[in-house]
Amino acid sequence: MDTNIYILAVDDETHILTAYKDILSPKKVRSSRMRRAAGKPKNDLRDRYQVELADSGEKAVELVQNFFAEGKKFAVGFFDMRMPGMDGVDTIREVLKYMPDLQCVVVTADTDRNPNEIISLFHDPSQFVYLNKPFNSPEISQLALSLSSLWIERRRTEKMLDSIVQASVQAIESRDPTTSGHSERVARLTVALAKQMDKVEIGPYAELHFNRHELETIRYASLLHDFGKIGVREHVLVKAKKLYPGTLEKIQLKFSLEEALGHISSGERQKWWTEIEEANQPSILPSGIQFDLDEIYKIGLISEEEYKFLTIPRGTLTNEERREIENHVNVTYQFLKTIAWTKDFQRVPEIAKSHHEKLDGSGYPDGITEIPVESRMMTISDIFDALTASDRPYKKAVPIERALDIIKYEVDNGKCDAELFRVFVEADVYKIVLPERN
Ligand SMILES: [Fe+2]
Ligand SMILES: [Fe+2]
Repeated sequence: MDTNIYILAVDDETHILTAYKDILSPKKVRSSRMRRAAGKPKNDLRDRYQVELADSGEKAVELVQNFFAEGKKFAVGFFDMRMPGMDGVDTIREVLKYMPDLQCVVVTADTDRNPNEIISLFHDPSQFVYLNKPFNSPEISQLALSLSSLWIERRRTEKMLDSIVQASVQAIESRDPTTSGHSERVARLTVALAKQMDKVEIGPYAELHFNRHELETIRYASLLHDFGKIGVREHVLVKAKKLYPGTLEKIQLKFSLEEALGHISSGERQKWWTEIEEANQPSILPSGIQFDLDEIYKIGLISEEEYKFLTIPRGTLTNEERREIENHVNVTYQFLKTIAWTKDFQRVPEIAKSHHEKLDGSGYPDGITEIPVESRMMTISDIFDALTASDRPYKKAVPIERALDIIKYEVDNGKCDAELFRVFVEADVYKIVLPERN
């Protein structure tokens, strides 16, 4: 495992780069006795420093790209603001594309513009500090130490949070293994859509931007959006036909018995049996069958409950069962509310809760019309994945074009967000999950 802490220093003046190297290169302290004498703690982060120098913004970006390709990350970067060619702001901007969690030191001279103004140019000011030139070596070593500790701490926290979220996703999907991968795909789609929306410069979302914590918030909310399905009874969750497994066999037995007793004719048995099998399918119930079911129920061939299930007008769920499934969003919300999210992730519960809300107020659980934009993006991803996933043996996956048409229909009916859907299609966001479909 690579335990180095990589520090990047960018400045166009050679003597300043040399100073960084001198100040930050680990001084080898050979034995712990000497270490104690030198007043350094046993696991000193400074022994793990690896300093990389760049004399221009362009070189810095190249270095970062190479690191990125090798799977290595910089923890801290010192950036001179005024450099010929690419300046400090542009360099940071480019570097953050590869290392979004880099802790940045904005190094300014009095002649530069106000450092706070520079920092405010970035989405997430919390990962920037500024340092005035000329600096002295204690300032540099202190900043490097505190920022690399912070970087390590943040990564640890993120890893822990990530593993809890992954464990929760596994828990949901173990309830209904046939939908495995749904949460992950919805997360990938929604984050990809958010990144595309960030680039849109015209229209209602021109001002919409997401920093890395906001993108992470979207990812967590998407990964956990269906967590509440854990509270839905399993036979309801995986219900494929109107009757629960085993019920049809019971009815068949009853029919045979009634025929044997001479209560019904063989013709009636066959006709009614065919109708019951047809009624049991998830499709819309034909009115002729409804009429016969009334009859069969009246003469006591099926129970009240069986009648109730078989006469479900469309789909496989009774209103009660539908409400139970819809309640998953409330359970998701309650679960997410109990997690002590840090400030950066405060909005996870609220975003996850609204993924079944519709813009015209016809959604659930609250029927609201002011829906967070993150939830609106998630709704599109969720519908798309639910339609196109060939995740149930009895359910055929809807072809991609047809799935997009169905969402378009929702958009045209004022239920889903038109602009978000436009970008979802035009920027090919939906295609990122397609290879998994084959
Ligand atoms: Fe859901
Ligand atoms: Fe979902």
